[in-house]
Amino acid sequence: MKGVYRVLSLSLGAVLVASALTGCQGAGDGRRIVRIGHNQATDHPTHVALLEFESYVESKLGDRYNVEVYPSELLGSQTDMVQLTQTGAIDFCVASNSILETFSDNYTLFNMPYLFASAEAYHASMDDENITGPIFDSTKKAGFEAVTWIDAGTRNFYTVSTPIQSPADLKGLKIRVQQSPTNVEMMRLLGGSATPMGFGEVYTALQSKIIDGAENNEMALTSNGHGDVCKYYSYDMHQMIPDILIGNCAFLDGLSPEDRAVFEEGFRIVNQVERQEWTKAVEAAKNKAEKEQGVQFLYPDTAPFQEICIPMHQTVLGQYPDLKPFYDAIQVHNKNFASGDKEGGAGE
Ligand code: GCU
Repeated sequence: MKGVYRVLSLSLGAVLVASALTGCQGAGDGRRIVRIGHNQATDHPTHVALLEFESYVESKLGDRYNVEVYPSELLGSQTDMVQLTQTGAIDFCVASNSILETFSDNYTLFNMPYLFASAEAYHASMDDENITGPIFDSTKKAGFEAVTWIDAGTRNFYTVSTPIQSPADLKGLKIRVQQSPTNVEMMRLLGGSATPMGFGEVYTALQSKIIDGAENNEMALTSNGHGDVCKYYSYDMHQMIPDILIGNCAFLDGLSPEDRAVFEEGFRIVNQVERQEWTKAVEAAKNKAEKEQGVQFLYPDTAPFQEICIPMHQTVLGQYPDLKPFYDAIQVHNKNFASGDKEGGAGE
């Protein structure tokens, strides 16, 4: 994020905290403002889906609610936005599951590398309320809960100038990871040097060669411009980490059953619209990255990466034994949808 933009977003966040503390969330026309923050650009499927949410809720309850969607870290980084949601300064935000791991250990489950056997197994697991329900509710005491999940595809390594064909190629490279202990440990095991930082800092860090590469889905190449700097994108398929839409509990609990039903349908719409948009967006991103940014896509053998990472499953389960039943339930979906999707896991 550029300097001025960052200052603007921080002050906007500060204004929101102040207005929440003084209880001022009205639109001036008697309607309740519902603020939703996220860190993607306006061309991203997440933004498109949240605009659909806005339209739907306002079509049903527009006389009483004014939904406002703030993209591009305007309200701060994901960590800032989760805190704003916790306190009720804003009502909702989208956070990566990785970031939520630092708020509740339960979210560690979905951050494990090579957890899902295929995109289909990932979708089936995240759609399975026996798996997600207890995890999504587990932060209620902390003031927020998850209301739906959002597909963020498959995470792969990409670098400025080193093609990653095997874990050995990562040795000595500084790779940006999300700020989660699981991601730092995964990078350590794979031999690269983990450099945790917020999403908004990555472009400048790549450009100024503070880091040699990063890891993310294909949208980061185009929507965030990383493909202008990084010329190799390697499908090692190490993680399928969902984004999570979280909401402030006091706001959600204060809704009447009728209003709550409208919001619940809105959450379902976010999930569905984003998934439909995602497949198209990833295809377009690959095309643009290859043709306009000159990014080369590589398809290494994923087995050596998996061999190094999979022992982490037992380590995590040893540390958090309560996650075992959910992990076992995911293995059932893995058996049902065993086939891997080498093209980036973007398929439905
Ligand atoms: C993806 C994901 C974001 C996350 C980002 C990151 O874009 O959708 O939620 O913040 O990766 O790597 O930080």
